[in-house]
Amino acid sequence: MSSLIVESSGRINMIGEHIDYNGGCVLPGSIDKKIRFKFNKIEGQECLIKSLTLDKEFRFNFSDLSQRKVHWENYIIGAINNLINKKFLKLSAFSCEISSFLPIGAGISSSSSLICGIVKGVLELNNLKLSNNKIIDIVLDVEHNYIGLKGGIMDQFTILHGQKDNLILLKCHNRDFKFIPSNLKNFKILLLNTNVEHNLANTAYNERVNECNDALKIINEHSNTNYDYLCKVPVKVLNKNRNLLSNKVYNRASFVLNENIRTIKSAELLQKNKLFEFGSLMYESHHGLSKLYEVSCEELDFLVDLTRKHEKIIGSRMMGGGFGGCTINLIEKDFVDQFVDECCKAYYIKFRKETTPILTMLDNGITIKKT
Ligand code: GLA
Repeated sequence: MSSLIVESSGRINMIGEHIDYNGGCVLPGSIDKKIRFKFNKIEGQECLIKSLTLDKEFRFNFSDLSQRKVHWENYIIGAINNLINKKFLKLSAFSCEISSFLPIGAGISSSSSLICGIVKGVLELNNLKLSNNKIIDIVLDVEHNYIGLKGGIMDQFTILHGQKDNLILLKCHNRDFKFIPSNLKNFKILLLNTNVEHNLANTAYNERVNECNDALKIINEHSNTNYDYLCKVPVKVLNKNRNLLSNKVYNRASFVLNENIRTIKSAELLQKNKLFEFGSLMYESHHGLSKLYEVSCEELDFLVDLTRKHEKIIGSRMMGGGFGGCTINLIEKDFVDQFVDECCKAYYIKFRKETTPILTMLDNGITIKKT
């Protein structure tokens, strides 16, 4: 194989936020917004990566895969470093042109999509096969060690497994999953990008991961239990241990346990086409993310609040890691234009910046075409 095209999708998450690294259930799906990679094998040891989107390029040699100063280069270098120095694979040099149709920092997983695309493309180019589980671990390793985000498996899993018109109910503790066909009737999935990017988002995200680990550790120590993930702790046990936890840590844990319960309920509701009940759970999820988990921001809260008075919007919440990024809204098809117009104006008046509407659909995750 000497030339190929990879298309790697973004992902949405219907509900189940900040749950993956706590070993609970999430309900994401891959979408029709993608990153496109054109790979070619080339002679020698030097690889050439061009981003047509950023209008930037860089070269690297397999013998020097140390961390780069330019942030986006590390996604690629980190992936290749893992394949060569941790999986001990022999790779041919390659060139890769990348065009992204996934907004960066919007909470629709442009980072995992980029790393998944590189890993899948390079493996295919070299006729090598690794299971999706191994690829997920590679992407996690790059995100944890090269990028510094101690995230979970939701994004990579969705990009690698996603199927058109389907959500995935994923049990993050053991990676068991089930497709949930999405039947949204006359509702559309509308994302509203706040265009806010918090530059300490990784630090704040990692703090949440640590706070959840603290909660788990304290509960296990004092109850003489051995729960392996926070989501395994029953709400009753959390409440019994409330006095041992600071208010902040209790709130984090309480959000996590209830969000996990909401996700399981949501999957049932969606299977029964009970969209309105599901919509209410989206609002509850947002409330918890904003007030207990504290990963929302003024702009996200504003966009969610704008939807409340509209009957034609049945659910809205912030989506992804938070501190900026998008809200996800379930909105009646014939109301989209009117609402977009209203919220773009209101957002501009309030914040003097634009919100970007992104109408999206569930589509296949990663695909490879040989050319
Ligand atoms: C980011 C992480 C995911 C997940 C979400 C929040 O997208 O990469 O692993 O934790 O935030 O649900």
